[in-house]
Amino acid sequence: MKLPSRVQLIDVGPRDGLQNEKQPVPAATKVELVRRLQAAGLREIEVTSYVSPKWVPQMADNHDVMSSIQRQSGVRYSVLTPNLKGFEAAVQDKPDEIVVFGAASEAFSQKNINCSIAESIERFAPVVEAALAAGIRVRGAMSCTVGCPYEGEIAPERVGYLAGLMADIGVQRVDVADTIGVGTPRKVQAAIEMTLKHYGIDAVSGHFHDTYGQALSNTLAALEMGVWNFQSSVAGLGGCPYAKGATGNVATEDVVYLLHGMGIETGIDLDALVDAGVYISEQLGRPTGSRVARALLAKRVG
Ligand code: HMG
Ligand code: MG
Repeated sequence: MKLPSRVQLIDVGPRDGLQNEKQPVPAATKVELVRRLQAAGLREIEVTSYVSPKWVPQMADNHDVMSSIQRQSGVRYSVLTPNLKGFEAAVQDKPDEIVVFGAASEAFSQKNINCSIAESIERFAPVVEAALAAGIRVRGAMSCTVGCPYEGEIAPERVGYLAGLMADIGVQRVDVADTIGVGTPRKVQAAIEMTLKHYGIDAVSGHFHDTYGQALSNTLAALEMGVWNFQSSVAGLGGCPYAKGATGNVATEDVVYLLHGMGIETGIDLDALVDAGVYISEQLGRPTGSRVARALLAKRVG
């Protein structure tokens, strides 16, 4: 056990959380969500994605959102860019980090980005090169590292293979994603272990969807390996449009409660974070998906 003393959380709510939302969410609401997240102490926020508006209509306002957020110094704003077209649009809006996103599963790669794993790496390579040349950091999301909605269980070796390809093209750090939340601790650890063959521990993050209620256990399993970067979504928002039935990321509030309870620092004010979650949940007209937020809100009333 080598638990970290500090964890860096990347809130992906504005992107992963909202990308699958069927009702229109005004750009101003997304901008206000980003403001509240940074006010709550988040130092990394995944704001939007520069993908085809035909594929993901909710992210069509990427430019409006990125050009309207009030940036705070010390906060890193990241965006998804699947190809050069997306990168060229994104670069106008000066992201601090871009994210290329691949999958450990061939079928998911086809469904999500319409190409094979090998083709995706060919598309990412010039994006990574251009980003690094422009002084923009590069992260790589690796989907379906434990299970795939189309192929079922994914062998850890396939995660290692993808991580190796990401490293070869210069991706600086990677997310081990359980896209459909089917993972359990030992499986997630196996996926991380294979990733560690290509990246140091500081360059690996956990991205766990909570579909089967395993995300906090998986977070703890990753922490025990020394992982100290995680993605989560305020109010547990979200789901991927190409992973049917998959629910949101683990709620940021729940992860913060877990970490603070273990004496691990996050720099996040849990009360302010709960307020940010209440804000977006009210805008969407539904209760928060965070168990911790529900408990704390009940206490506030009582
Ligand atoms: P494609 O159809 O193969 O692309 O889509 P294409 O190059 O053949 O172009 C077709 C059309 O799309 C053209 O327009 C292009 O201009 C346009 P048309 O001539 O037909 O009018 N196009 C674009 N428009 C805007 N921005 C772009 C762009 N690229 C092409 N960047 C593509 C390939 C990747 C674009 C498409 O499949 C796509 O947009 N997929 C979206 C995938 C997505 O956003 N998924 C959700 C995010 S990933 C995720 O949630 C997982 C993650 O959270 C980790 C986890 O949990 O696993 C990260
Ligand atoms: Mg995701």
